Amino acid sequence: MKNIFLLLLILMSINIVLAQKFEDLAQTPPMGWNSWNKFACNVDEDLIKQTADAMVSSGMKDAGYEYIIIDDCWHGERDEKGFISANKERFPSGMKALVDYVHSKGLKFGIYSDAGWQTCGGKPGSRGREFQDAQTYAKWGVDYLKYDWCNTEGLKAEGAYLTMRDALYEAGRPIVLSICEWGQNKPWKWAEDVGHLWRTTGDIYNCWDCEEDHGTWSSFGVLRILDMQEGLRKYAGPGHWNDPDMMEVGNGMKVNHDRAHFTMWAMLAAPLIAGNDLSNMTQETIDILTKKEIIAISQDALGIQAFKYQTKDGVETWIKPLSNGDWAITFLNRSKNEQKLNMKWEEQEIIDPDFGYKMNLASQVYKIQNIWKEANLKDTQKPLKISIPAEDVVTLLLTKN
Ligand code: GLA
Repeated sequence: MKNIFLLLLILMSINIVLAQKFEDLAQTPPMGWNSWNKFACNVDEDLIKQTADAMVSSGMKDAGYEYIIIDDCWHGERDEKGFISANKERFPSGMKALVDYVHSKGLKFGIYSDAGWQTCGGKPGSRGREFQDAQTYAKWGVDYLKYDWCNTEGLKAEGAYLTMRDALYEAGRPIVLSICEWGQNKPWKWAEDVGHLWRTTGDIYNCWDCEEDHGTWSSFGVLRILDMQEGLRKYAGPGHWNDPDMMEVGNGMKVNHDRAHFTMWAMLAAPLIAGNDLSNMTQETIDILTKKEIIAISQDALGIQAFKYQTKDGVETWIKPLSNGDWAITFLNRSKNEQKLNMKWEEQEIIDPDFGYKMNLASQVYKIQNIWKEANLKDTQKPLKISIPAEDVVTLLLTKN
């Protein structure tokens, strides 16, 4: 009896050791590309290879993009033992060869599955096969798993994602776990130790400010998704990010909308996952996606999201504390007219409402850099007079003098 008790204790402690997510991953918001927004189910190995090539040749890899993530519909059937493989027509060389190709470019590989019995696209899900699938991904060399939430009737989200977390951990290869349950079960409240990022909303749609009704569900434009992030910033930080969905930059919005979308995702310390056709980008799209000062704001080591400081005449002022006591400020003009702004620094009391950082404008002079204009604007000793174009952003970097 005593021996059985001892055995139980040992087994329990092994389980405690095993039951964790891979720490040290995604210490800054993940950057990469995902196939879904542009290609939906039209994925094959040529697309993935070309995209990896384009990520390198466009300069995106040098700018910090890392993951090539294949979303839904890569799947073939399960074999008689239940192991999954890639669709043979679309991926004739097999998934392992494709992962090797992506790795050979110095990039990392992400894959997609679903906690239910089928994915949203009707392909085999991982329900009941979590440990087997995790072993398969690890064997292929996968680095990132986006794990969706379709066809999960009767499942509890936290438990389902914990199961996959433990399966990945047992498989032994460090894999980023991207939780995609659309914010329905408030993952920000329970997922810090489960995954590395979690979707906060339903799907994004390629528009500035719209709701696209699909019958039983809707997808949302950039501003709608932005508004749904309210109250969530206190839950995010290094290794556990709010995910307002992949980007639509380069998918057809106007350039000012793309610029504002990209900038706000950086301000939110959101994952920067491009969702456009990397092999066919305009120079304007490349310039936005690789804007290094904006990426630096996104990737700042402090890992704190911007807060909304004030709203006036349709202009929202968003402020993000950065490491070394620097700050990023973005004026987001949601109105249809250009707006003028006069910022009298000495009248401002800028305090982060959740983390307590304080901008010390009385005792500290900050140099101001206008990032998109690539201009220096003196410092915080003089009031800032600036105009913000309609439905666009102006982003300032404030550094200590
Ligand atoms: C859901 C997800 C999307 C995408 C599709 C794939 O809608 O939220 O991001 O992965 O499924 O079918």
